[in-house]
Amino acid sequence: KNKKVLVTHQLPGDRIHDLSAHCEMNVWMDPGLLSPESLREELAGCSGLVCLLTDRIDAELIAANPALEFVSSMSVGVDHIDVKALTARGIPVGHTPGVLVDTTADTAFALMLAAARRVVEADHFIRVGNWTQENAWAPDFFTGKDVSGATLGIVGLGEIGQAMARRAAGFGMEVLAWNRSPRQVTGITSVSLDELLQRSDFVSVHVALNDDTRGLLDARRIGLMKPGAVLVNTARGGIVDEAALAAALSSGQLSAAAIDVFETEPVPLDNPLLALPNVVVAPHIGSATTLTRAKMADIAAINAIAALSGEPMPHCVNPEVYRG
Ligand code: GLV
Ligand code: GLV
Repeated sequence: KNKKVLVTHQLPGDRIHDLSAHCEMNVWMDPGLLSPESLREELAGCSGLVCLLTDRIDAELIAANPALEFVSSMSVGVDHIDVKALTARGIPVGHTPGVLVDTTADTAFALMLAAARRVVEADHFIRVGNWTQENAWAPDFFTGKDVSGATLGIVGLGEIGQAMARRAAGFGMEVLAWNRSPRQVTGITSVSLDELLQRSDFVSVHVALNDDTRGLLDARRIGLMKPGAVLVNTARGGIVDEAALAAALSSGQLSAAAIDVFETEPVPLDNPLLALPNVVVAPHIGSATTLTRAKMADIAAINAIAALSGEPMPHCVNPEVYRG
């Protein structure tokens, strides 16, 4: 019970309270995010860390904490953590897969529909008083793009990509997918990434951000996309070249985009994507339902309790630390 564990934010769910029975738990209580300076100070001497994706756990921070025995993140993505540096020290890293799959696919599908049918633009149009007798129900008024029956290209056919495909099937879409290690899934056609970009009316990104996927959708690949296509990103901003995407949207090559994740978050207001009316944006809310966030926090707590009990974490990104 004398081991110190830092929890970098107040968490929802029930299981986080159980953690205090296993350690001396220090929860950062400010509503705002923990600054890198405060994180460094608070983590000193801790055996464990329960963090969010906004906490950067880099090699320097890891080296400065020789007592660290585990890291448990309340996220499925771990691109904010130097997993290699932790693995080298034999330190397990926990994450929260599974529970956010349907919620995140719902968000991707909602954003895709919103971009295709110009929902946000239309909402704004009414509120600023632009809906008048002159344009009332003109035949070409707010015309968008059909989702039903269109072709959806899924970049990354993991659990969330497959959940997206199930939703697409309900809309009568043809589903293409690319995955680094090809996967056979009924009803989904596996293609190369270039072919997917050339054939899809909608492209939705569902890969993790890592050294292989950073900048995956670069200017060349965006240039391959079908005229009038729509890009949806609920994965990580760093996967898409934002400047190249903004250029393709301005030139009219792409008709719209729906973006939940940005290279820099919170997104600076001078990001060129924010100046475009045909871009629907959201502040990284893919998994943001009350129930799913509670489930994610519970898994983060369960991973931490397992580590404190000397057991393998049930959801570990580097299980090799348990062999050897
Ligand atoms: C959200 O982006 C997550 O990684 O859980
Ligand atoms: C639409 O409202 C229609 O009646 O066609």
